Amino acid sequence: MTVLCETPRMTRNGRSPVSNHPNRRTFLAGAAAAGTAVTAGAVIAGTPAASAAARYPLPRGAETLRVLVTGDSGTGDRAQYAVTDAARRLHRAHGFDIALGLGDNIYEAGPNGPDDIQFLTKFEKPNAGLDFPWLMTLGNHDNSSVFPGDGGWLLRGDDEVKYHARSRRWYMPARYYSVALGVADFFIVDLHPLAAYIPPILSPEWEAGGHYMTRQSRWLDQALRTSTAPWKFVCTHHPYANNGPHGPAGTYDGLPAPLGGQAAKDFIERHIAGRAQFLLSGHDHSQQVLENVGGLKGTRQIVSGAAAKSVHSASTKRFRARYENYRDTGFMTLDINPNSVALTAFEVPANGAVRQAFSTTYRR
Ligand SMILES: [Fe+2]
Repeated sequence: MTVLCETPRMTRNGRSPVSNHPNRRTFLAGAAAAGTAVTAGAVIAGTPAASAAARYPLPRGAETLRVLVTGDSGTGDRAQYAVTDAARRLHRAHGFDIALGLGDNIYEAGPNGPDDIQFLTKFEKPNAGLDFPWLMTLGNHDNSSVFPGDGGWLLRGDDEVKYHARSRRWYMPARYYSVALGVADFFIVDLHPLAAYIPPILSPEWEAGGHYMTRQSRWLDQALRTSTAPWKFVCTHHPYANNGPHGPAGTYDGLPAPLGGQAAKDFIERHIAGRAQFLLSGHDHSQQVLENVGGLKGTRQIVSGAAAKSVHSASTKRFRARYENYRDTGFMTLDINPNSVALTAFEVPANGAVRQAFSTTYRR
């Protein structure tokens, strides 16, 4: 079963049809429009799915799942292709059932409408042959406003929701949603109202504690509480724990409140920690398998945001890492069955020599 939430039905008041960077005035107009025009459960605007080619089907009721995990992928450049080339080789040898895209799907400033050619150049073409559903999470670059990655134009992310109806593989029926696939349930969460570099402080719809986050928290509470799958994965673009340069929630990029993500930290502790086995995130262009993170109540933080870029920095060592890499691009795989989850991290160095760098198995 797929649970849809927050499907957009909104006007684009005040937004330039050509600019990728609306000015402050249009940004605020957009935020105000969001306050009145978002309706949970409304029909997706745009091209009906029925008019597009058949969507790659979700493997509902699966007893096992093989998952490709990528994050921060949408550059369309050689590094992204090197990562997807490696994923294609794995897919030919042992096929994936689904992929997770952990946000920053369209660099640098997100799409200009649901028919933007960037969906072709930064998603469809690089992922050719990886023909299965991609469960997509929104990232800060997908919600850009004044400068790329500021996360301040939340309406821009809705273009990625609308693109769901135009693609066989891009799966994003709403800004936040869940997908039940038998052996595992996936909960895709949108933390941007709590983590944007330009917070929506003037809109009762989007602000922290506003209508949108209230609806999302109620939905997530119920969805996690009623999930009966052996394994539960929550996906957020912004991590809770992070040894990379973006830092952890509460002190993102060393910024003071409210820009440091304290509200995102509180949200994760209140609504996710201890309720799912895994929290999968991107944002930092690195790969990390963290353990025993205080505040997460046993939920394991995995970071995989290196599908097109790497940060080339040292670990802060704030959190205990079983594996971490800040040098190379890469991706992860999950092999899920009712009793175990096998996680493998692949590194794709600049010379293209792919290596399996880390593997571990979690048991129930
Ligand atoms: Fe990001």
